[in-house]
Amino acid sequence: MDTTLDVLKVIHVINAILMAWPFYALVTVNQRVSLGPPLGDRADTYMENIIKNRTLPCFVLQSIALVTGLLLVFLHGLGLDALVANPILGLKLLLLLIIAALLTYVHTTLQPQIDALFAKAGGHPVPQELGQQIAKLRLRRKRIASVCLFVVLTAAMLGVQAWALFPFWLTIVLVIGIATLTRRAYSSVTRWI
Ligand code: HEM
Repeated sequence: MDTTLDVLKVIHVINAILMAWPFYALVTVNQRVSLGPPLGDRADTYMENIIKNRTLPCFVLQSIALVTGLLLVFLHGLGLDALVANPILGLKLLLLLIIAALLTYVHTTLQPQIDALFAKAGGHPVPQELGQQIAKLRLRRKRIASVCLFVVLTAAMLGVQAWALFPFWLTIVLVIGIATLTRRAYSSVTRWI
């Protein structure tokens, strides 16, 4: 049983590492901004393809986080009521549901709208009016990626205190640190990390 628990923990942690994609998505979109016009060239096709092809892996990673997380709870001899009794576990579950909802929105609504606008432009250069609409939707997608990054890092930080709570002040300090890192990833090309 101990070995199973250990292996599950490793899978849960490796899975969490792979969920850092929003950070690298932000690096990518900020680099695209640095590159400048024209909108609709091969750089956009390349970036859009990478971003939209990450959707399925992201759903898979979220599912693995949920399954391994719940199994970890069960292997500790607890039931589903632990998700209510232990606020950290309940919060982790809630955070996972939030990013699943955001990913679903991007996949079913936002990304198809961006794709449709690029398709309407029919190759570059994208007319100014379409370009403005694309920029607006891309900005919304970027903000959502930042929320996802913040949520994933917060869920990882909470995981460390699943069985023994940190002092409240420390949790707040760590949340502020995560928010600062997320803000930096959102607004710069993050040259040093
Ligand atoms: C965004 C999703 C999630 C991420 C990024 C994440 C990340 C992590 C990380 C990095 C750890 C390791 C902490 C350490 O080294 O001590 C951890 C532990 C843990 N996580 Fe998650 N987690 C997520 C979702 C969940 C969910 C949904 C559950 C179950 C409701 C869960 C249950 C647990 C448990 C029980 C532990 C403690 C494992 C142990 O030490 O026995 N996690 N999590």
